[in-house]
Amino acid sequence: MTNKTWFNTGTSSGFGRQLTEQLLTRGDRVAATVRNAAAMDSLAAKHGSLLWHAELDVTDTTRMRKVVEQAFADLGHIDVVVSNAGYGLLGAAEEASDDQIDRQIATNLTGSIQLARAVIPHLRAQGGGLIIQLSSMGGQIALPALSLYHATKWGIEGFWESAAADIAPFGIGVTLVEPGGARTEFAGGSADLTKPMPEYADHAPGLLRRMLTGEMPALSSPGDPAKIAAAIIASADQGEAPKRLTLGSDAYELVTVGLRERLTALEAARDLAYSTDADDFAEARANEN
Ligand SMILES: NC(=O)c1ccc[n+]([C@@H]2O[C@H](COP(=O)([O-])OP(=O)(O)OC[C@H]3O[C@@H](n4cnc5c(N)ncnc54)[C@H](OP(=O)(O)O)[C@@H]3O)[C@@H](O)[C@H]2O)c1
Repeated sequence: MTNKTWFNTGTSSGFGRQLTEQLLTRGDRVAATVRNAAAMDSLAAKHGSLLWHAELDVTDTTRMRKVVEQAFADLGHIDVVVSNAGYGLLGAAEEASDDQIDRQIATNLTGSIQLARAVIPHLRAQGGGLIIQLSSMGGQIALPALSLYHATKWGIEGFWESAAADIAPFGIGVTLVEPGGARTEFAGGSADLTKPMPEYADHAPGLLRRMLTGEMPALSSPGDPAKIAAAIIASADQGEAPKRLTLGSDAYELVTVGLRERLTALEAARDLAYSTDADDFAEARANEN
């Protein structure tokens, strides 16, 4: 394995932090971006010139372009870009404020799309590279009380399903990482909670809120962030980028059930789907068979 150079967003905690620490420890160079530069002080003191860092809020597209430009200018070549920054807005859709919805989409969805748009010209110019997008099992299945979060993760999955094909001819690979619940700040400090409405108090949004605020015992998340980060790094070391990396027993089980249910429902509706084709198309098709 030859050492690589990485560009990671959201490196103050969770997966982004674990990735950055593990990469620096093995001798890779990392351009780490955070909202608060002080979060990188300890890693800067320990790893010196292996760490390049800059302040970046991924909702600030103008700043993002400058930071990306500077990172490529200073580091010369960046092998892997990890689009990791994100958080969850928890609660029922009608409980959320307009600002909460805008911020959720601006961070998880638009922020990831704009990062892709900022780095692709550089990766193309250098002859290729790899983009690793933190999606979620919540980009394949959906749980109650997380509708806005799921909208961003299903959204980024749709973006990459299309955009990955556009950039493949330039040697740029894309991997969607789909972890299940993991022990980061995601369900604690970084989560954004909607303003509670009494109508939802005894339903999923109210129950989830009580778990997050400690009023009710919370379910333990299975995912170990250090193991998840190690699996992401290993995936980047293998020859061809995997299209998806589903990580965690909960992710595997829920995505399996979700995909099976969708396929079963689709197949049950085959005749209805075919019935809406225009007559000339249906006849031509029947003549072909
Ligand atoms: N943990 C899970 O259960 C889980 C499961 C599936 C997917 N994910 C995904 O994994 C990714 C990382 O989350 P995590 O679990 O590691 O949570 P985390 O510990 O809360 O880390 C999230 C990181 O994103 C940063 N961030 C949030 N908003 C930002 C913004 N506007 N601009 C720049 N940075 C921002 C945070 O920075 P600050 O310190 O400045 O807030 C932090 O560094 C997210 O995309 C999340 O959706 C998490």
